[in-house]
Amino acid sequence: MTQDEMTDTNDGTDPTANAAADTPDPSGDPLVDQSIDVEGTSTTEQTSGTARTVLESRNLDVYYDDVQALNDVSLAIPAKQVTAMIGPSGCGKSTFLRCINRMNDLIDSARVDGELRFEGKDVYDDDVDPVALRRRIGMVFQHPNPFPKSIYDNVAYGLRVQNQTENMDEKVERALKHAALWDEVKDQLDKSALDLSGGQQQRLCIARAIAVDPEVILMDEPASALDPIATSKIEDLIDDLAEDYTVVIVTHNMQQAARISDKTAVFLTGGELVEFDDTNKIFENPENQRVEDYITGKFG
Ligand SMILES: Nc1ncnc2c1ncn2[C@@H]1O[C@H](COP(=O)(O)OP(=O)(O)O)[C@@H](O)[C@H]1O
Ligand SMILES: [Mg+2]
Repeated sequence: MTQDEMTDTNDGTDPTANAAADTPDPSGDPLVDQSIDVEGTSTTEQTSGTARTVLESRNLDVYYDDVQALNDVSLAIPAKQVTAMIGPSGCGKSTFLRCINRMNDLIDSARVDGELRFEGKDVYDDDVDPVALRRRIGMVFQHPNPFPKSIYDNVAYGLRVQNQTENMDEKVERALKHAALWDEVKDQLDKSALDLSGGQQQRLCIARAIAVDPEVILMDEPASALDPIATSKIEDLIDDLAEDYTVVIVTHNMQQAARISDKTAVFLTGGELVEFDDTNKIFENPENQRVEDYITGKFG
């Protein structure tokens, strides 16, 4: 079993993990149970370039029992851009991603210190409902994990859970178009999702994640199980998605990070964020010698 299989918290049987939906929420999408105005309480005024900051970690530490997986990580993720997390295996990339929508809650030994702010609100505050959070911050995993249902029902899943059933056909079509899958499946929406190819299944999982209209999409090595053609389709899609969503992607493929991301965060051993900057800067002229050694292939 690989590290990623061991640490993948979603085995495909948790229907809430990917559809980011669990209970109906007729009031919209607040993070908290009561009607606290999350937007209005925003304290995150910091910007990154010209883009607004959507997610921000401050001095984030994560431990699994007494093993420290992230060490004092502070970074600000800009809206409607692609931010890539790169670094060698075990440096904490998946851990960081799972902090953002509190998927680490599902790991008993995980403990989080420091702050992780989404639209200025600390997602670890007591009044934050993780289910509501995951509705606004969807996730796509390394191995495509469609439900054993039809293509249509996969995309409709989160909408049904949220009782957003009016104009369902249109919403399903829009999500499939947005995920660049519609043309391939429009005549077979009743077919089982499990009969699709791996690349199509992954685009279906992306359609399922965006059907409920999240603000952020987290992707943990979404193309690493796919062939080069399917990978290239996912990369094109990620570029399109950033027009509407904030995308945070973990990849161990440095060329992929260089191709698709606006910002790159480099994590190195010990869960340390060593450098975070515009992707061009990281790949052309990094400040840190260890980052240069890593991206030029001297280790990792
Ligand atoms: N569920 C878990 N239980 C215990 N340790 C874990 C778990 N998930 C990750 N770790 C440990 O945390 C560190 C960071 O892992 P991870 O975030 O998966 O790194 P990456 O995604 O960069 O490969 C590693 O030392 C790993 O062994
Ligand atoms: Mg990982």
